[in-house]
Formats: sequence, C-alpha cells, structure tokens
Amino acid sequence: MANIVKILDGFSFISRSDLNLLEALESQKVDIEYQCREGFCGSCQVELVAGEVEYFAEPVAFVPDGKILPCCCHAKSDLTIEIPGGCHIKKE
Ligand code: FES
Repeated sequence: MANIVKILDGFSFISRSDLNLLEALESQKVDIEYQCREGFCGSCQVELVAGEVEYFAEPVAFVPDGKILPCCCHAKSDLTIEIPGGCHIKKE
C-alpha cells in the first residue's frame, strides 16, 4: 500500500510501495546523505517524527532511538520525517 511521507520543513508526497525510503526521497529529488545504501554506515539517518517503518534486514549501523535509516527500510504507515539540515531539493 502506498503511504504519505511528510518531510518537516519540506513537503509531502505519496511513496511508491516498491521503493525503499531513500529511493522514494530520491524520486522526489530530495537531497539526502548516503554512502553504503545497505544499513552499514548510518550516514542516511533521519529522524522519525511520526509513523512506522519496516526494515528489510536489521541494520548493522547503530540507530539511536527516534532515528531511522531510509536506505534499508520502507514506510509501513504514513510517515513524518525530519532530515538533518532541512529539506533541500536537488537542482538538475
Ligand atoms: S546509506 Fe549507509 S546506512 Fe544508509
């Protein structure tokens, strides 16, 4: 099922259910940090303000309470997230 992803200081969009959260954010041209894209490095970390995510596999990186790793999870419900440094859109 498609869920609504709301970005604090940004906008909301409907996430395609076949994309992980990082891919969903990229599909909206949101500029977001990442390195490994596999849950190892923790660089993609964002704050989960509201909602629930599901991990495909338990991330190896340490994930503090209230944070999530978009590269290895997808939205299980409508989400509100906060991106460190705010929501910026890539210019192309
Ligand atoms: S990009 Fe490395 S944990 Fe998400």
